[in-house]
Amino acid sequence: MTQQQPSAAPQHATSPRVSRRFAHFGQSVFARYTALAAQHNAINLSQGFPDFDGPEVAKLAAKAAIDAGHNQYAPMAGVKPVRDAIAGMWHDAGKFAIDPDTWITVTCGCSEAIGCTMAGLLNPEDEVIIFQPYFDFYEAGVAWAGCGAKFVTLHAPRSAGEPFTFDAAELERAITPRTRAILLNTPHNPTGKVFTRSELEAIARLCIAHDLVCISDEVYEHLLLPGPDGAPPPPHISIATLPGMQHRTITLSSLGKSFSLTGWKVGWAIAPPHLGAAVRAAHQFMTFSGSTPMQHGAVAVLRDAAALAQPLVSLFARNRDVLSAALARAGFVPLRSDSTYFLMADHSALSARQGLADDEALCQWLTREVGVAAIPPSVFYADKHLGRSLVRFAFCKKQSTIDAACERLAKLAAR
Ligand SMILES: Cc1ncc(COP(=O)(O)O)c(C=O)c1O
Repeated sequence: MTQQQPSAAPQHATSPRVSRRFAHFGQSVFARYTALAAQHNAINLSQGFPDFDGPEVAKLAAKAAIDAGHNQYAPMAGVKPVRDAIAGMWHDAGKFAIDPDTWITVTCGCSEAIGCTMAGLLNPEDEVIIFQPYFDFYEAGVAWAGCGAKFVTLHAPRSAGEPFTFDAAELERAITPRTRAILLNTPHNPTGKVFTRSELEAIARLCIAHDLVCISDEVYEHLLLPGPDGAPPPPHISIATLPGMQHRTITLSSLGKSFSLTGWKVGWAIAPPHLGAAVRAAHQFMTFSGSTPMQHGAVAVLRDAAALAQPLVSLFARNRDVLSAALARAGFVPLRSDSTYFLMADHSALSARQGLADDEALCQWLTREVGVAAIPPSVFYADKHLGRSLVRFAFCKKQSTIDAACERLAKLAAR
């Protein structure tokens, strides 16, 4: 049989047919810079994924789950052992008791939990408040929901050793009669900020006063890094544990970030049943359920979460300090990062010397000329100008990868 050759498509048929809701996003910045890094043989400190595997115990458990025949659809809310393990981890962290059957929905990574929460909870006439800079999926979540968004700025510190902060009065002014939810992310990507108890209390007060839901993305909950001087890390506090918040918070998390298993895509939402209903309403028609063997594999990690995260915390704290020092020598001003595996730095002085206009120009130049890829943070801001003088580096890499990046930055310092 002769095979039919595909005919050339007419010009009009080849332009991308993307809905108005998603067309303006273009290609994700992570895909763009990962491709640019590969093209220029640059060390990729742009996208936040480790260049090493997660715990051995996790890999063995996932393989065993496949061999044990856990290969068909998981229940919509997730397999029972993983929901029990998530409830156990929540309990071990000193939080309130939750019923794994009615409070937990397992999703395909935290990404799906974000999309389902926003699409399931918010109507087109509603607004959600988002702190900027933000993980860029939140803007896509707004597109899924078709709702409106208001942005409140986390102000960059005046001195490098201070954290990003927000003004509670500014947050209150962003609330309108249409506001239904505040989206919080602590520990925070891209700044490495851990929201303090008093900051969370201010957010909780506004949620209660205005009858708002808090969507709290806590995907970096286990990655709390000691200070460069060895000072203990700030505590991570789940806003759901604050008085009056248990029944108005949807807490989102996943296995990927805290345990170097980003490819597993096992995430979850923890919410009282009346809010969990919103997540499940969307989840049942988005994916219905996540991967069954990976959920079984996740149990081994979640049962021993604190101990398994510890070596990663030590590695990431070391990497942050070594990279910060190298960046400072190369002419950047690295900012404080208490958690996650991201570091923001101010590049204005260096860019002025090199004649580079903004964060995009800096990141292009850094990737092509220095051989180190990073992310231009203006993509994380609705008000783009706020991110133009900053650059984000991911330090979730082997020690040798970070050291190699520092060697390249050292050549820049010597120029
Ligand atoms: C704040 C935040 N939330 C959620 C995610 C996505 O999590 P997952 O990989 O589990 O989908 C990321 C990934 O970068 C993130 O930074």
